[in-house]
Amino acid sequence: MNKNLVKKVREFYQREFTATPIEIFSPGRINLIGEHTDYNDGFVFPAATNKGIVIALQKSTATTSTVWALDKSEVLIFSQDNKQPKETGSWKDYVYGVVSEIQKLGKQVGDFNAVFAGDIPSGSGMSSSAALENALVFGLNSLFDLQLSRAEMILISQRAEHNYVGVKCGIMDQYASMYGKENHALLLDCKTMEATPFKIDFNPYEILLINTNVKHNLSESAYNERRKVCEKVAKQTGVSSLRGLSLEKLYLSRNTISTEDYQKVLYVLEENRRVYHFAEAIKRKDIHTMGALLFQSHNGLRNQYNVSCSELDFLVDKAKKNEYVIGARMMGGGFGGCTINLVAKCEIDNFKKEIATHYKNTFQKECSFYQVSLAKGTHRI
Ligand code: GLA
Repeated sequence: MNKNLVKKVREFYQREFTATPIEIFSPGRINLIGEHTDYNDGFVFPAATNKGIVIALQKSTATTSTVWALDKSEVLIFSQDNKQPKETGSWKDYVYGVVSEIQKLGKQVGDFNAVFAGDIPSGSGMSSSAALENALVFGLNSLFDLQLSRAEMILISQRAEHNYVGVKCGIMDQYASMYGKENHALLLDCKTMEATPFKIDFNPYEILLINTNVKHNLSESAYNERRKVCEKVAKQTGVSSLRGLSLEKLYLSRNTISTEDYQKVLYVLEENRRVYHFAEAIKRKDIHTMGALLFQSHNGLRNQYNVSCSELDFLVDKAKKNEYVIGARMMGGGFGGCTINLVAKCEIDNFKKEIATHYKNTFQKECSFYQVSLAKGTHRI
């Protein structure tokens, strides 16, 4: 957690509201492997990072609530009895969403003043949205003693995303952000919602994120479309989710499914297996198998699930050609954001230099590099 961020938020809060707030840190996440499997009741392998959102909040004596997004210098003032959500297409939807979803459970949220800021690079696919949702619901839970469990809070965050932001996301981001554990990644079964923490030490390799610094427009609609395809095929094959579909059964149904849909569903089934094999490889400290699985995952996301883009493919292709990079793939929903790479520590600087130059020459824009550490989930500071 970035101490300067906490200081910045605290000082602004005290200047603006002359009160001592409670403060929450909620992290962004990475995902080792298991992409687009969460909403199919499958397996994912995320971890919370040291980059996240800090929110300071306190009850308000006014009849309105005020929320400051410090990084944007924007403020939202709304009244609880006139909390009609507006489709703003901005961070404000997350605030309306979380407050409204809490209220739908019959819980009373009073007026409050909040200030938040973060250091998750925007558009990086590290889920600043889940971090914000969790930070707010966690803060309101403490402030108004709502007696919500962590499990209930992540469902509120997810519903805010579904009903106010319009992305029919799975549970991975909210789960990882809420339950993250220092130096660990969580092997999460999205069907049972049970997670097994794995200590992560890839020495002599290290995780390097490379941000394409692009976010293509179709990402949200394409995301929802993918989800629909999966649900359609699940229904067609008589299972409640793709988790219940075997490779054999999918193969036997191949004549009733379009080639594109077949490939997408096949990807999901194969990705679930890759997550399992990745976990087994961690146990054996078999870094070569882990790396190979990352490349395979990217291949599936690119050619079968069709959620990659030329910038992401470029970065993964370059990684593949470098003997010091053992694995790489796009991370998150796709159509931009980051790749996750396993790079030999001693060669990280050279690899960065090489990529930076080639990326700039090819796309006339900069890419960015992040080395994150794996951190604790949403908590009071
Ligand atoms: C986004 C969603 C997650 C998950 C990933 C893809 O981050 O919010 O629920 O589906 O995409 O794995």
